[in-house]
Amino acid sequence: MNNYVCSSKAQIKPEAFHRTIDGSQVDLYTLTNLNGLEANITNYGGLVVSLMVPDKNGKLGDVVLGYDNLNDYFGSTPYFGALIGRYGNRIAKGRFTINGVEYQLALNDGVNSLHGGLRGFDKVVWQAEQVDSPDGPALKLSYTSKEGEEDYPGTLRCTVIYTLTTKNELKIEYTAETDKPTFINLTHHSYFNLKDGGASDILGHELMIKASRFTPVDKDLIPTGELRPVAGTRFDFNKPTAIGVRLASEDEQMLFAKGYDHNWVLDRQGEDLELVASVYEPVSGRCMEVLTTEPGMQFYCGNFLDGTNKGKGGTVYQHRTGLCLETQHFPDSPNHPNFPTTELKPGEMYTQTTVYRFL
Ligand code: BGC
Repeated sequence: MNNYVCSSKAQIKPEAFHRTIDGSQVDLYTLTNLNGLEANITNYGGLVVSLMVPDKNGKLGDVVLGYDNLNDYFGSTPYFGALIGRYGNRIAKGRFTINGVEYQLALNDGVNSLHGGLRGFDKVVWQAEQVDSPDGPALKLSYTSKEGEEDYPGTLRCTVIYTLTTKNELKIEYTAETDKPTFINLTHHSYFNLKDGGASDILGHELMIKASRFTPVDKDLIPTGELRPVAGTRFDFNKPTAIGVRLASEDEQMLFAKGYDHNWVLDRQGEDLELVASVYEPVSGRCMEVLTTEPGMQFYCGNFLDGTNKGKGGTVYQHRTGLCLETQHFPDSPNHPNFPTTELKPGEMYTQTTVYRFL
């Protein structure tokens, strides 16, 4: 039953996403759950273009940053709403070794490889199939990344299912198989702003992360390998804390990343889906919980947004108007044997599930 008032419906026109790229059809798919929540997702890059969720008065509003037409995603986008692969976050100098063979990836972030390279999974066309699951409407996306694509070894067959569940969750289920040993770290890169979808900053959002440690980085944002305790530092989000409160700082980690842009080592047991984080925005009353099967989460507070991206409805995304909670294995794991492994071997099934739940 739809209890919500849809006074600010996402003004996204499917025609603005209808296009053929390299012989494959791109479209915009709308998932609407029983409560009237709506997600618009395109099979180009598996991008979540809009996500309409209720505020404390039951009024639906868009809580993710993005563009209202496909063309703008071809230009300069900081991975708004994107599926990230083959490897989420950075690989130092774009280099790793498997079975004694060294691989060199393209460097697309200074001296490093970031988010899958020059043409990561956010820039390819996925095969799309709209399916009805008992949990709610779903979009099944499939993509085969051929051996050598972005210089990675092995052909990787990936499936991602987005479901907008009756419990008001955007559930993302990833699976992948390879025919040769390779590295994989898939994630999702929505920029959330629970207040107004990016019209103002996210500094008043209260964040909780269940993590006793994080992975500090060097000046190129590559983990040093240390798992550093957060207790007594500005990285301790075990108690909900407004993001802006501890941002200004001479802390070396904050200077390197220009704010929060780090991987938290989640305090989770086993491999089941578990609540790992929450965000509450006091003005709208919106609250989002994050559940995942992953060992880490990148919390990035939009430090590199600088007013150059003009998004949906003409909104210009200024500094720190969106925040990302990217559930993942740790950045640069291929070069850190002490981190949980990201190697996938033939015969194994890669799985990861993450849920963004709106309360
Ligand atoms: C990274 C940031 C990067 C952003 C957009 C995040 O996942 O941690 O350093 O600027 O993605 O590219």
